[in-house]
Amino acid sequence: MLYATIFVVAAAALGAKAQTLYDAMSKFPELSNFTAFIANNPNIANNYFGNTSAYPITFLAPNNDAFMSLQAKFGANMSDIPADTLLQIIQYHTMVSNLTKSDFNNNGGGQGLTVPTMLNSVNNNRSVGISMAARYGGATKAGGQVVFVKGDSGSPGRLRLMSRQDNPNGGQPANTVRSGLSSNVGITAIDGVWNGGIFHIIDGLLTPPTLCSTTIRSAGLSSLDLALNRTQLWNSLDSTNNITCLGPNNAAFSNSGSPDSKLNTTALSGALLFHTLPQVAYSDYLYDGQEFKSLQNMTVRVKIVGSGSSKTIYFNNAKVLNANVL
Ligand SMILES: *[C@@H]1O[C@H](CO)[C@@H](O)[C@H](O)[C@H]1NC(C)=O
Ligand SMILES: *[C@@H]1O[C@H](CO)[C@@H](O)[C@H](O)[C@H]1NC(C)=O
Ligand SMILES: *[C@@H]1O[C@H](CO)[C@@H](O)[C@H](O)[C@H]1NC(C)=O
Ligand SMILES: *[C@@H]1O[C@H](CO)[C@@H](O)[C@H](O)[C@H]1NC(C)=O
Ligand SMILES: *[C@@H]1O[C@H](CO)[C@@H](O)[C@H](O)[C@H]1NC(C)=O
Ligand SMILES: *[C@@H]1O[C@H](CO)[C@@H](O)[C@H](O)[C@H]1NC(C)=O
Ligand SMILES: *[C@@H]1O[C@H](CO)[C@@H](O)[C@H](O)[C@H]1NC(C)=O
Ligand SMILES: *[C@@H]1O[C@H](CO)[C@@H](O)[C@H](O)[C@H]1NC(C)=O
Ligand SMILES: *[C@@H]1O[C@H](CO)[C@@H](O)[C@H](O)[C@H]1NC(C)=O
Repeated sequence: MLYATIFVVAAAALGAKAQTLYDAMSKFPELSNFTAFIANNPNIANNYFGNTSAYPITFLAPNNDAFMSLQAKFGANMSDIPADTLLQIIQYHTMVSNLTKSDFNNNGGGQGLTVPTMLNSVNNNRSVGISMAARYGGATKAGGQVVFVKGDSGSPGRLRLMSRQDNPNGGQPANTVRSGLSSNVGITAIDGVWNGGIFHIIDGLLTPPTLCSTTIRSAGLSSLDLALNRTQLWNSLDSTNNITCLGPNNAAFSNSGSPDSKLNTTALSGALLFHTLPQVAYSDYLYDGQEFKSLQNMTVRVKIVGSGSSKTIYFNNAKVLNANVL
């Protein structure tokens, strides 16, 4: 009797390890559109998800709602997207490590988790940074564009995942992800096991990051837009790699006397460069007292106040309302 029990447990463990992503996802009715897509695209199943040298990975599987809203929004489903674009979308949904619910929930005392994806050919003008490279298997492996996952301590297992443009107003509905094109994406971290790693379920497609100008304009930062127009800094901002913009909102501009319209362009350029840091500064890699030299050569100092979900980040005296807009 004892032996039989041990045998069954061992067999179950082996069975769980030997599954392809397709097999593992087939058990979830809400993923039927994606499993049908995989069944119709054996090249993606075999060459991409079957590529053992990329293992372990975490796939963020779009549920049927994600397919339906894609259809509603663009009149297209994944079968209609050109193959190269499709591969990029799937790469952006693949994290380069096997990450579980506890990795998302436990990270950094409420600062969230920035994770590199497999998307490295396009939409990625950043360099990795020493800390992220060390955490995710080296600069090459961690070189892809990132997503940002934020745990919601109130309801374990439901998380927020921000792939790109976060809510410009700073008020984030719990359990959602705001990605490109202002879509909200929620993640249900189910820790699904397959032979290449883990998968979780998301309720919308992630949108790869794009140019700074597009991002700032779609976030409604019109004073910053005006300032960048007047100083003609858009081109260098859009073509410089590896920078972080501390983008003042419209209230910040009006509260400081509307420099976007009133300062001359020399002084305004200096002010904008003071808000530009020459490296990538994700919120989960910031620490209290950290200093950056801005492009205008003056020091910007990080201050972190509070803890857990009430943690607030400041750059000098300016409070961060909306972190990690990619
Ligand atoms: C895709 O999802 C929709 C909505 O849930 C469902 O009606 C449809 O049958 C699904 N298609 C496939 C192929 O699973
Ligand atoms: C398999 O993965 C490795 C590591 O990410 C990558 O270098 C290689 O190009 C991939 N092969 C294919 C066929 O995609
Ligand atoms: C997507 O399009 C393909 C072919 O155009 C079609 O067979 C499939 O049913 C569509 N899927 C959904 C979820 O509408
Ligand atoms: C993640 O992958 C590593 C290396 O392959 C392995 O040691 C570890 O057990 C895996 N963790 C999970 C949660 O699958
Ligand atoms: C990346 O930088 C190149 C120039 O260095 C630029 O042409 C391209 O548009 C940039 N792409 C993004 C997504 O920022
Ligand atoms: C900045 O310039 C662009 C392109 O010329 C224009 O579309 C936009 O309205 C301008 N923004 C502001 C705030 O004036
Ligand atoms: C621009 O404004 C600054 C102060 O706001 C002033 O010191 C400077 O002389 C002005 N430059 C020009 C060219 O008017
Ligand atoms: C980009 O920033 C990282 C730190 O986040 C730094 O290590 C790296 O040298 C920077 N790369 C470039 C090209 O400036
Ligand atoms: C900042 O200093 C560097 C050299 O240390 C110089 O090349 C650059 O022009 C300075 N930038 C500004 C805006 O003064």
